[in-house]
Amino acid sequence: MDKISVAIDGPGGAGKSTIAKAIARRFGFIYVDTGAIYRTVGLRVRRVGADPSSAEEVTPLLESMKIEMKYDESGSQRMLLDGEDVSNAIRTPEMSMYASAVSALPEVRAFLLEMQRSMAREHSVIMDGRDIGTVVLPDADVKIFLTAAPEERARRRYLELQARGTECSYEQVLEEMNIRDKNDSERAAAPLKRAEDAIAVDTTDMSLEQSEDAVAEIIEKRIRV
Ligand code: DC
Repeated sequence: MDKISVAIDGPGGAGKSTIAKAIARRFGFIYVDTGAIYRTVGLRVRRVGADPSSAEEVTPLLESMKIEMKYDESGSQRMLLDGEDVSNAIRTPEMSMYASAVSALPEVRAFLLEMQRSMAREHSVIMDGRDIGTVVLPDADVKIFLTAAPEERARRRYLELQARGTECSYEQVLEEMNIRDKNDSERAAAPLKRAEDAIAVDTTDMSLEQSEDAVAEIIEKRIRV
């Protein structure tokens, strides 16, 4: 059978990465977390002290940075920036905001597009992001748009950050999430929106297992036809 591609888009905290990881294991796909790539660009921008929303400042940095995506023995995606493993460094609330800012720049999106598409040419993938079904893989075999109420998404993100030992308040997480949703949905370049042919799944009242099963069922139905 040809390579399968599953696009899973939606706002932060809807459960995309957790569900996509589980689905990848279940179906033998590779899980591609595209947000991590934008976060890596954001980290580089932060390190040189550039303004993440300025195309003039960010664009010249792109050609000189080496971004690589690797998979470790457990199948987890690792991000390398100029050879350094930055997979943990990119997981802070500050890097979420930097990633959101750099991702609004068309120059950054164009620079990262081929890297994402080549993954889907070489492997069966489940790829999560904001524009996978609309821009990166418009011909994906299955498109899912995963959402949940903002308060529930913030609650999940807050628990995740707590578990990682990051100090923050729920209110702060909710506020930053709302800002990021607005940035990501209202930008001109590849905004977060449901592809016309994407199936919407609202996980607000679902457990993780229920969400995973709902997504798996959609994929099974689509792949069989
Ligand atoms: O999924 P995430 O929270 O790690 O993504 C971080 C930011 O990157 C997000 O706020 C918007 C941007 N992003 C994007 O514009 N397009 C994608 N396909 C993935 C992420």
